[in-house]
Amino acid sequence: MYYSEEIIEEVRSRNDIVDIISGYVALKKQGNNYFGICPFHNEKSPSFSVNRRGQFFHCFGCGKGGNVFTFVCEYENFSFPEAVKFLADRSGIALPEVEMTPEMKKHAGEKQKLMEIQKEAATFYYYQLRNGSGSTGLEYFKNDRKLSDETMKKFGLGYSLKYTDAMYRYLKEKGYEDELIQKSGLCDYSEKYGFNDKFINRVMFPIFDIHDKVIAFGGRVMGDGKPKYLNSPETPIFNKSRTVYGLNFARTSRKDRIIMCEGYMDVIAMHQGGFTEACASLGTAFTYEQANLIKRYSKNIYLAYDSDGAGTAAALKNIKILHECGLGCRVIDLKPCKDPDEFLKTYGPEEFEKRIENAINGFMFEIGKLREEYPPGNPDDETNFQKETAKKLCRYKDELERDNYLKAVCREYGIQEKLMEDYVRKVSSAMELKGDEDKDDTAVTGLKSGRKEAPSADDAIKNAQRAFLTFIVEDPPLYLKLKDYISVTDFTDPLYCKVAGIMFEEIESDGFNPGAIISSFPETDDQRLVAEIFSTKVGNIEGDSQKNQTIKDLIIKIRDNAISDYQLKNATDGNAIMKTIKDRKALDEFKHKELNLY
Ligand code: UTP
Ligand code: MN
Repeated sequence: MYYSEEIIEEVRSRNDIVDIISGYVALKKQGNNYFGICPFHNEKSPSFSVNRRGQFFHCFGCGKGGNVFTFVCEYENFSFPEAVKFLADRSGIALPEVEMTPEMKKHAGEKQKLMEIQKEAATFYYYQLRNGSGSTGLEYFKNDRKLSDETMKKFGLGYSLKYTDAMYRYLKEKGYEDELIQKSGLCDYSEKYGFNDKFINRVMFPIFDIHDKVIAFGGRVMGDGKPKYLNSPETPIFNKSRTVYGLNFARTSRKDRIIMCEGYMDVIAMHQGGFTEACASLGTAFTYEQANLIKRYSKNIYLAYDSDGAGTAAALKNIKILHECGLGCRVIDLKPCKDPDEFLKTYGPEEFEKRIENAINGFMFEIGKLREEYPPGNPDDETNFQKETAKKLCRYKDELERDNYLKAVCREYGIQEKLMEDYVRKVSSAMELKGDEDKDDTAVTGLKSGRKEAPSADDAIKNAQRAFLTFIVEDPPLYLKLKDYISVTDFTDPLYCKVAGIMFEEIESDGFNPGAIISSFPETDDQRLVAEIFSTKVGNIEGDSQKNQTIKDLIIKIRDNAISDYQLKNATDGNAIMKTIKDRKALDEFKHKELNLY
């Protein structure tokens, strides 16, 4: 750990979670909580909640949650120390300088070390390109790709030597252990050959995260070898589906638009031509996470994909993904060139700007491609074309939006509006009946399917334990009235038990602080679960007597499970049998007791 617990707690308490999150998400007050559209998954109605008193957030849709640090880490892609620094700066807290001693270095998190390795590697490749041994690489960039020194510097371009283990030896010299080197993805290990560099005799493209930190590499052969590009494998710091190449630059371009390209060289050529808002999804597949990521910086998206079949297929797929993430887009026509790189070289930036102005709406582009499949003239093709078009129009749930697209399509292809309207209405209600409606969200998060299964007995118990703890979070003194009937050991789930322990102790000493409790769990996954414990929905409870009854039922359920659990674990122990009998009797008495909590 970098900073002392006191400092971390000071930073946390000086950054109100509602203030911070409302800088990113529009929040509305609703009862004790604030609600908004979750920034971590795709949704239409708000299930993202922020609790000001408890200083935590939780999304009922995707399950993400935690305290203010968790939020900033997730949203900004920060490591924990980075999040602390960010929030400290924001609230004017001076953090103690931390100089990394060799000892601290050893203990610094693995991720931290992997980041360091990537940085070392980038420096090494960068140096080799400019050193005599990288001259083929330098010539390739200068002569074949027409890159300026400035561009090469901005993108940190480099060169990997011809030797099979240059990087391995370099990293060993720097003191990194084999295990870590292997994890970095820069070298492969095999029993037969030992360690070998992944990138050999290639020009190198560092991949940056949005904070300009190198997290991976792409390497291209100079010439026609295969594979054309090699990319780092996924590592603890490189999640391909969450990375957008060049976004670190594009997000600060102040252009109010983002141009998505296919590859490294397109982005670089675009930036050299003055289009600093260009970035790439690397390869053709574009993920929902990438779409949601760029959405944070601009809602005005242009696609500048290759004009070949693969590029068109990718554009079509991505138009749909963007739409599902609530984004429209426009498609830039690059013909007769194959990609932005070639276009800029052939026609220059001014012509490109014109192509941007004339870019065609993503939906209209899609219909245009559909038209190519069903050319006009043949009545059957015409029917199929119109039916497919109608289906696509059903994607628009907003009436105005749908109507505008419908009119535009009908105008362009000479279809009778009235006919199309009726048909779309029919298809749309048939789809709703079939339940095709909600498909989008599921595809985006991949979470819903897992959550819809019928709850098991185990889930029901955990639910009860969670609900009880949520009641306490809402009204901490309640615990003092209930502590004779329930104890920490009744929480059979280890994480719940730990959280209950901390909570009860803090309430006894009048220092209860949910947001701080979350800080004591270093893993994001645990933070998420703790926030979930604090945010269980308990349904509509009206009136005090119903509240009394609900809490009583929860205690009975939790105690009953705890007694059975204890009994099972200590089946052969005589004393335990006695204890079980006693506990059961007490529980029976409790069942007949009248609870008057309110
Ligand atoms: P392209 O083949 O269109 O490459 O692949 P490009 O960007 O036009 O590159 P140049 O101009 O030939 O140098 C587009 C992107 O797909 C990924 C790379 O990210 C590339 O930039 N790709 C392509 C690979 O990862 N591996 C490959 O073998 C090919
Ligand atoms: Mn290309």
